[in-house]
Amino acid sequence: MQLRKTKYSDLKTLLGWANDRLVIKNSISRNSKVNIKEHSIWLKRNLISRKNNIYIASKKSKLIGMIRTNRFKKYYLISYSIDKKYRNKGYGLKIVDKITQKLFKINKKIYFKAIVKKENKNSQKIFKKLNFSILPIKNKNFFEFVKKYNI
Ligand SMILES: CC(C)(COP(=O)(O)OP(=O)(O)OC[C@H]1O[C@@H](n2cnc3c(N)ncnc32)[C@H](O)[C@@H]1OP(=O)(O)O)[C@@H](O)C(=O)NCCC(=O)NCCS
Repeated sequence: MQLRKTKYSDLKTLLGWANDRLVIKNSISRNSKVNIKEHSIWLKRNLISRKNNIYIASKKSKLIGMIRTNRFKKYYLISYSIDKKYRNKGYGLKIVDKITQKLFKINKKIYFKAIVKKENKNSQKIFKKLNFSILPIKNKNFFEFVKKYNI
């Protein structure tokens, strides 16, 4: 599986993933579909941002999924999704593992954070398997997972 930065030409693929039923259900920021115009504005904003990056995971010609990193002062907030066709094959775990390894190579002081709905058991399993720690619960609907570089 390869990771590359996203391009504007990925707009329709990203829109399809953003409007997937499970992606909407597990989203912490919205509960309905987005239209192409809104999504185009969102993508352009992310493409010019120095703090946000979106990566596409692919295998041969197949587009597997995406992972986004939002840079805050001390951490990257990550959010990710895998195309419906390729779920339950280990790609979710791989995409999170790859991005953390890649960015830890550049900066070992920064940590990773993910906010996961309590009902999103699959994603929780992934973070636990990757040795993310769970923070004391502040919000009754979400868990916060964090991972620091360990030597
Ligand atoms: C959450 C999400 C990204 C998980 O992606 P995924 O690729 O299905 O995840 P994985 O395949 O890595 O892990 C899921 C299950 O597949 C299993 N699995 C791993 N490798 C496998 C393999 N080679 N063959 C079969 N199953 C495998 C995993 O073990 C896990 O199940 P288990 O822990 O019960 O054993 C995906 O469901 C998704 O896109 N959801 C909507 C968006 C979302 O929730 N994003 C996260 C927000 S925090």
